[in-house]
Amino acid sequence: MKVTPSDLTLGATVSEVDLGALSDDQSRGIEDAFHRHAVLVFPQANLTEEAHIAFSRRFGPLERTLSKRTERPEISLLSNVAKDGRVAEPDGALGLFLKGNRDWHTDSSFKKVAAKASLLRALEVPDIGGDTEWADMRAAWDALDDVTQARLEGLVAVHSYAYSQGKVGGIALLTQKEREALPPVHHPVVRTHPATGRKSLYVGRHASHIVGMDEEEGRALLARLTEAACQPPRIFRHRWHAGDIVAWDNRCVLHRGHPWPFDQPRVMRRTTVAGDGENSWAIERGTAHA
Ligand code: OGA
Ligand code: MN
Repeated sequence: MKVTPSDLTLGATVSEVDLGALSDDQSRGIEDAFHRHAVLVFPQANLTEEAHIAFSRRFGPLERTLSKRTERPEISLLSNVAKDGRVAEPDGALGLFLKGNRDWHTDSSFKKVAAKASLLRALEVPDIGGDTEWADMRAAWDALDDVTQARLEGLVAVHSYAYSQGKVGGIALLTQKEREALPPVHHPVVRTHPATGRKSLYVGRHASHIVGMDEEEGRALLARLTEAACQPPRIFRHRWHAGDIVAWDNRCVLHRGHPWPFDQPRVMRRTTVAGDGENSWAIERGTAHA
C-alpha cells in the first residue's frame, strides 16, 4: 500500500491496495493516514456497493440516509439522474437538492450527532466540472490570531437543515414529518478532534446563527469565518474518475461540489459514518436489512 500526501495540510492518495481484502497493517495505515490527512483518495478502487459499505464500516457504524431514492439505508444517492433515467432539471426538487452541495459544509451537521466521516464513490462523471473540494478546518483554526481564537472558544452554533436547504430552495424533497425529525441542533464552533487532539473550526452552510447572539450578527460572523477559512492553501481538490472513492473526516474538513453541465449525468453514491455517542440515525449492525 502506498500513501502519497499532497503538498497541502490535507489530502493524500492511497494506492496499491485492495480495499476489499485489507490486512491489519493496511487497516491501521489507512486509519493513521485518515487522522493525519483528513481526506483520502483511493483512485480507481472500483468497489461494488457491498464492498463500499463494508469498507465504510471499518470507520464505525453507518448513518441511515435521508434520501428516499436508494434501496439501502446506508447509501445516499447523489445523482442528477431521476428514477425514470432522465437527467433532472436544475430548478426541479432534485436539482435544487443537489445545488445545496455547492456551498461549503460538513455532512449531517444538522443532526444532533453530526457525521464522523463520509465515503463518496463515483459511478458516472461529467466530461468537465463536478470536482469536489475540501478545506482544512484544523489549519484554518491555527491561522486565526489569539484574540479571535479566544473570542470563538465557547461559542455554540445552531445548525438547521430547514435553514440551509430552505436557502437554496431544496427542501421540497422532504415531507413535513421528515422535516420535523430534523429540528435545529447545537454544535460548538470550535471542536477538538478525539483522535488527534487538534482543534478545528466547525462551521459551514448548515450553521444558521450563534446561541445568545443577535441572529443576523451571528450569521454574518459564521459567513465571515467560513469565507476566510476556505481559502488556499487549505483547499484540496479532486477531479473525479468513475471508480474513485474518497473518504473524509467531517469533524475537521468542510467540502463542496463544483457545478457541471447539468445535461450531463453525474452519479455518485455515499456512505456516512455516524458520529460517536448515542445516535438515533446510526444503523445497528444486523438490523440494516430490517
Ligand atoms: C457529499 C457532497 C459534493 C459533490 O457527497 O456529501 O457534498 O461533489 N458531495 O458531489
Ligand atoms: Mn456533503
